Amino acid sequence: MRVSTLTVFALCVGGSIALQNGLARTPPMGWLSWERFRCITDCATYPDSCISEQLYMAHADRMVADGWLAAGYNLVAVDDCWQLPQRNATTGQQQPDPTRFPSGMAALAKYVHARGLKFQIYSDVGTATCEGLPGSLGHFDIDAKTYASWGVDSVKLDGCNANVTDFRKLYTEFGRALARTGRPILYACSWPAYIDIGSTQLANFSEIAQVCNLWRAYDDVQDSSSSLYSIMRWWGGKAGTAMAKASGPGGWSDADMLIGGDFGLSFSEAQMQFGLWAVIASPLFLGNDLRRIDPQVAAMLQNPAVIAISQDSLGRQGTIVAALSNNDVQWWTRPLANGDLAVFAACISDDQGTFFFSNATLSALGWPHQSAHVFDTYAQKPLAMVTGVLSLTLAPNLSQLVRLHH
Ligand code: GAL
Repeated sequence: MRVSTLTVFALCVGGSIALQNGLARTPPMGWLSWERFRCITDCATYPDSCISEQLYMAHADRMVADGWLAAGYNLVAVDDCWQLPQRNATTGQQQPDPTRFPSGMAALAKYVHARGLKFQIYSDVGTATCEGLPGSLGHFDIDAKTYASWGVDSVKLDGCNANVTDFRKLYTEFGRALARTGRPILYACSWPAYIDIGSTQLANFSEIAQVCNLWRAYDDVQDSSSSLYSIMRWWGGKAGTAMAKASGPGGWSDADMLIGGDFGLSFSEAQMQFGLWAVIASPLFLGNDLRRIDPQVAAMLQNPAVIAISQDSLGRQGTIVAALSNNDVQWWTRPLANGDLAVFAACISDDQGTFFFSNATLSALGWPHQSAHVFDTYAQKPLAMVTGVLSLTLAPNLSQLVRLHH
């Protein structure tokens, strides 16, 4: 790998036309069960990790007790496998498995609300969810009404078992069904995730932004740095620039769950994911076990200086400004509301032994001044005052997130 001064990619961010339902003015933050707990339904063998009301109640409790809510994580998200395999024969409604959700979904939403948190449910735009449970196709109105009656604040609508060419019509119709309930319900779509996989064609993100508050793009995150790096490479390509044009207050590109605190990432890699997700204004959905998280990782994921970048009111999705050494060193920037600039640099290669300096001219970063005060966001303290060039120390699997101010 060669270390060099970067050249700039085109950085042009247009205005966005997001869904204006008053929700998701900043990227949502919460905890989502899928990455860690998948579709475990055997509560006899795995009482602690099966998809059950106990799992969500325990996480709601931890979110309040351990500072997650205070840090901004305010959504508890149920994912696949909460349902029985059949709808209710009389009412036509989806129904929670009564052995795992004996109190029912309205009671679970109430439990979550009582702790100052919001509640998300999961369904699918097709005939069945990805795990084969009843999907919403043909039942949009009854499902939307059911969720509203349960007190749901957010719906993740997956895209399995449907024809992608029908997505425009189907996702739009479900969004209308949600709006008709009269309850403000955040609408998280998986629409582009199904278009991007295996295709060279990109989704029409500005069209999606008019329908959805969130759009999951690219492949599911898995518990490994190779998964993280493939997401970073994809976002560092033309898709990231296209998504940035569509994203803003009311509608955000979703890079999938944070896997810090799980098994696959080192501390530095988990920090890299968190830092970049803040810069690209992705929702911050924890995908870990909050009852068993390493305290150092928990503190890292609650870093207020990083969260301030994620939640910055200007609402710009950061973009890559340079990819060096075959995309193994990435530099990203995100303009912030007060005129500061968030700058993220990461080494996602393993063919570098130790620390090295990666350099960028301030002008290449789009910084309009000769010099800058540099604030180290991870360490939460001032780093340096620089003129002309910003030099950041990287190493394999290491990142830096700094904030430039004048
Ligand atoms: C996938 C989706 C995951 C998870 C899973 C559930 O398609 O991308 O986030 O929801 O389905 O079956």
